[in-house]
Amino acid sequence: MIEITSLDKAEKFVRERVKGFDSGHDWWHIMRVRRLARYINETEFSEDPYLVDTAALFHDFADSKFSGGNQEETIELVRQFLKENGMDNFINGVSNTMKYISFSSRGKTGGMRDNLLLVVQDADRLDAIGAIGIARAFNYGGYRNNIIYSPVVDENKNSTINHFYEKLLLLSSMMNTETGKRLAFERHQFLELFLKQFHNEWNSDTFNLF
Ligand code: ADP
Ligand code: NI
Repeated sequence: MIEITSLDKAEKFVRERVKGFDSGHDWWHIMRVRRLARYINETEFSEDPYLVDTAALFHDFADSKFSGGNQEETIELVRQFLKENGMDNFINGVSNTMKYISFSSRGKTGGMRDNLLLVVQDADRLDAIGAIGIARAFNYGGYRNNIIYSPVVDENKNSTINHFYEKLLLLSSMMNTETGKRLAFERHQFLELFLKQFHNEWNSDTFNLF
């Protein structure tokens, strides 16, 4: 079992790192993912809770949207950190999670059926849907200066509303675990309700403005 001080150090390391990330990928995102991952692990598996905590802490550390640099180099930095802080036995699990968690590497697991990856990936996906997922999407869209929506098909391609159709609405059917599926259900329904209301308001002929 790892010492609490190692986990404290990992928290500080990650907290410092995510300072420049947008609010949807900030420390509180990490904490929400950590809490969800802990819960999913407790109900589905019984991986070492410290391992789950550590993987959740580092899951976005090498996110290409923010690191800009080489993912392999960033993962190596984390491997070194874990080694120097007595968490050698977490190195494989944490680096595998960092490498394969993202939506863009969907379906890839590094050839492993890795409970840890399944748990942290579900937790991360849950935080991208529901009310929090909606808030994160619009925050990220604003951060990138993307438009909210356009009724002109070509203009709409980079809108945040389009992101719902390209990604967010797919997530509930991509959950790995039964607990993930259960938790995703209500959040997915909320996305649909939000989109329905959004389009109703947009298309309302009450004001006939355009
Ligand atoms: P993953 O780590 O699974 O690849 P991302 O880091 O791309 O996921 O997404 C994390 C958060 O950023 C999500 O809440 C997602 O909705 C939001 N996000 C990513 N790309 C966009 C986009 N183009 N427009 C709006 N939100 C986005
Ligand atoms: Ni994340």
